[in-house]
Amino acid sequence: MKFFVDTADIKQIEELIPTGFVDGVTTNPSLIAKNGDDMAKTIKAICSIVSGPVSAEVTATDFDSMLEEGKYLASLAKNVAVKVPLTMHGLKVCKALREQDTKVNVTLCFSATQALLAAKAGASFISPFVGRLDDIGEKGMDLIEDIVVIYENYGFETEVLVASVRTSQHVIDAAVIGAHVATLPPKVIHELYEHPLTKKGLDAFLDDWKKTGQSILPKK
Ligand code: G3P
Repeated sequence: MKFFVDTADIKQIEELIPTGFVDGVTTNPSLIAKNGDDMAKTIKAICSIVSGPVSAEVTATDFDSMLEEGKYLASLAKNVAVKVPLTMHGLKVCKALREQDTKVNVTLCFSATQALLAAKAGASFISPFVGRLDDIGEKGMDLIEDIVVIYENYGFETEVLVASVRTSQHVIDAAVIGAHVATLPPKVIHELYEHPLTKKGLDAFLDDWKKTGQSILPKK
C-alpha cells in the first residue's frame, strides 16, 4: 500500500521524507490556499524533493481552460499528476491528458459510477473522499470496497487513492480492502505510529537502563 501526504506544506513533507513512507503528495486548491504560497512555486518545490506522483489540481471548469491549465501544471515537473474534478469536462480532460501520457488524478469522487467513468477515461488515480461521505452519514469505506471490486472485475489499471482520510481506522480499513493508495494529512500519519503502550514501555526501559549507569557507546 502506498502512502501519499495530503498537504502543500513543504516543511511537513520534508520532515516525513526520511521515514521512507512518502510515496507521493496530493494537494488541492484549499491546501494551496492554506499554505499561502504561489502554486507553481509550491508544486515545483514539492516535486524537487518527492520522486513519486505529486497531484496539482486545475481550477478552471470548462474543457479548454482546464486542459490548458493541466498542460501547464504537467510542464512544471515530470512527476506532476494533474488533478481534475469528476465532471464531464474533467473526464474529457482526463482522457486528453492521458493520451499525452500525463498522469491524471480524478478527484471529488463520491460514487462507484463516477469511479467507473474515471477508469474508462484512463485515470491514473481515482480519489474517493471517504471522510466527507462519513460526514453526511454514509459509510465512505463501502465506496472503496465497491470500487476495488469493480476495478478488479474488469482489470482497470486506475489506482484507488483513498482521500479525505481523517483517522487511523480509515487507513486500516483501506488496507484491509486492498486500496492501492491512501493520502494522509500529516496529523493522521503521526497517529499511525503513536500508541500509549509504546510510550509506556519505552519510559520503563529508559528508567531501568538509567539505573544500570551504563552507556552503550564506549566512553571517549
Ligand atoms: O485529498 C482530499 C482531501 O484533502 C480532502 O480532505 O478532510 O478536506 O475532506 P477533507
